[in-house]
Amino acid sequence: MDLRTFLAQLDNSGELIHIAEPCAPEFAVAQAIAQHDGTPLLFENLPGFPQWRIAAGYVAQRAHFARAVGCSVAELVTRMAAAAAHPRPIPPTTTAPCQEIIEAEVDLTRIPIPRYHPLDGGPYITAGVTVIQDPDYGRNLCFHRLMRLGKDRLVGRIVEQRGTHTAWLKAPDGLPLAVCIGVPPHILLAAAMSPAKGVDELQIAQALAPSGTVRALTVPLDIPADAELVLEGVLTHEFAAEGPFPDLTGTMDHVRQQPVFRVTAITRRRDPIFHALLPAGLEHKNLMGMPREPTIFAEVNKVVKCTGVSITPGGCSWLHAVVQIEKAGPDDGTHAIAAAFQGHTSLKHVVVVDTDVNLYDPAEVEWAIATRFQANRDLILFPDRPSSSLDPSARQAPGQKARTAKMGLDATIPWGDDKQGYLRVKYE
Ligand SMILES: Cc1cc2nc3c(=O)[nH]c(=O)nc-3n(C[C@H](O)[C@H](O)[C@H](O)COP(=O)(O)O)c2cc1C
Repeated sequence: MDLRTFLAQLDNSGELIHIAEPCAPEFAVAQAIAQHDGTPLLFENLPGFPQWRIAAGYVAQRAHFARAVGCSVAELVTRMAAAAAHPRPIPPTTTAPCQEIIEAEVDLTRIPIPRYHPLDGGPYITAGVTVIQDPDYGRNLCFHRLMRLGKDRLVGRIVEQRGTHTAWLKAPDGLPLAVCIGVPPHILLAAAMSPAKGVDELQIAQALAPSGTVRALTVPLDIPADAELVLEGVLTHEFAAEGPFPDLTGTMDHVRQQPVFRVTAITRRRDPIFHALLPAGLEHKNLMGMPREPTIFAEVNKVVKCTGVSITPGGCSWLHAVVQIEKAGPDDGTHAIAAAFQGHTSLKHVVVVDTDVNLYDPAEVEWAIATRFQANRDLILFPDRPSSSLDPSARQAPGQKARTAKMGLDATIPWGDDKQGYLRVKYE
């Protein structure tokens, strides 16, 4: 399924809001996304860009992914884990919608790349799935925000030691890159995963839902055939200032010298749909957090039966998780806490709940803490651990891994107590 088929499904079920009045890619689009965060939007009138539309919010809810891969929200964790464990080869297609139009001239100013916030360093591509080929590990998919510098140049945020960065270090003449924009939910989800080196995320996407690939025109890469827009080019060893730009936490990231991406070709659909992903919005949060849920799930299952994991938006969809377990012994809550931190090393706080607590409902999780948790007994504190650089309160020193205090709250019913006294009264 491609993006426009998915949007048509959302439209049929009345979930897609069409924005027909003029909305400028500079600031107005971002303001509207922020106002409707969680709701799929289609901007149909972009002044100065008559051929284009902008889609936003189409993966802002777990239900959107569930619909795209054909399962329930609760089944998503196991679907992601199964796809990562059993990637599927992708057949090349004979048709390439992403190459319907090959732009005669590379000119990024003719694409409605939004500006999100007045403090931003420039217009930003935020939902580009970057395809690269590593000489040792094969194809890798990754997100890199890209700030437009000129007609054929962007500067990317390339986090050190991840797939793109390590491949770029091996390419003294620059790394061939294809940035695919306007891809369906299952490709976005797979691209956000961090499987073992050598596992192709496009094959994980294929195990979630079928697609096809096509050969790029100016770089030696096979790319998703259904993308709305593709920027082909080379990640050079020239540097430029990148940022400022909002981080996942909703705080402003600082300016860094980062590699320049020189674009060699632009291909697209005849009437392309650009995907604008609001930084720190629900789409960003879902895509960051959801792929960590199966890894936590797998680790916790090694020590106690885990029935669900939710990385919560209130914790920036990165720093907080709720783990649901079927408790079978006095220390299961404590074991689950330790395992959860193994499953996602950037995790800072975790709450463990029983199966009668809805792990997706923050009020129910808080209720479990209020009624089942005693700090002197159920709080597990790790005073000094390596942590996420995204946490502004973590201790950060240049060139060193950030450090933080971590805690786990065991909000399960204490073992041995009379269970009856802990159950919520139901009026049904
Ligand atoms: C929406 C979104 C935006 C992201 N932006 C960046 C970015 O600008 N730079 C970066 O290096 N990683 C970014 N990431 C994280 C990478 O996608 C992540 O490191 C990658 O999935 C890890 O895979 P790899 O180790 O296989 O490359 C982003 C992730 C998401 C979901």
